[in-house]
Amino acid sequence: RKRVVIFISGGGSNMEALIRASRAEDYPAEIIAVYSDKAEAGGIAKAEAAGIATRIFVRKDYASKEAHEEAILASLAHDRPDIICLAGYMRLLSGRFIASYEGRILNIHPSLLPLFPGLHTHQRALDAGVKLAGCTVHLVTEGMDEGPILAQAAVPVLKGDTAETLAARVLTAEHKIYPLVLRQFASGKAEPQPADAMIISASLF
Ligand code: GAR
Repeated sequence: RKRVVIFISGGGSNMEALIRASRAEDYPAEIIAVYSDKAEAGGIAKAEAAGIATRIFVRKDYASKEAHEEAILASLAHDRPDIICLAGYMRLLSGRFIASYEGRILNIHPSLLPLFPGLHTHQRALDAGVKLAGCTVHLVTEGMDEGPILAQAAVPVLKGDTAETLAARVLTAEHKIYPLVLRQFASGKAEPQPADAMIISASLF
């Protein structure tokens, strides 16, 4: 089984979905540890409750971004992940960091990339009047929310949606798609089969 480290900054619901999936006997990946850049991240207690090791690297405890990343890299050298899954990790990784795990860092973003990268994704989608929203799992490269797309799932935008209601609907799709993509990726299949990975839906006005 492939060794996976998950990076979080927040509630960790995607992390939980990955942990839950990894408990299946035939799942090709195991979660070795959860790393957080926030000491108060809600996901930390959830990881601990699941019996997963947690490691906390608060940015302000380090003199520079480089020093912060060095500390994380040193810990990773000990944990020896094959794959790193960013799951709500709200920090850009440097090119140097990414090069250390080239092609082995996955991220989930709550939009149909390349639309709406970065923050306030859902409000921007609502403001644009899109009828489909969704989420994307992609390989991490230096640009924010860039890198080759592995899979996307779409959900409808419904009349009366707020950023919160839309975020909640997208999140349920995230919880389905991320474990699927990790399963495929860890078993060496370059890309998930569309039939497995895609949830297509549309709303009319
Ligand atoms: C998720 O919606 C994830 O896609 C998003 O943060 C949320 C984390 O929720 N990530 C980004 O916006 C990264 N650009 P979670 O902590 O409950 O998994």
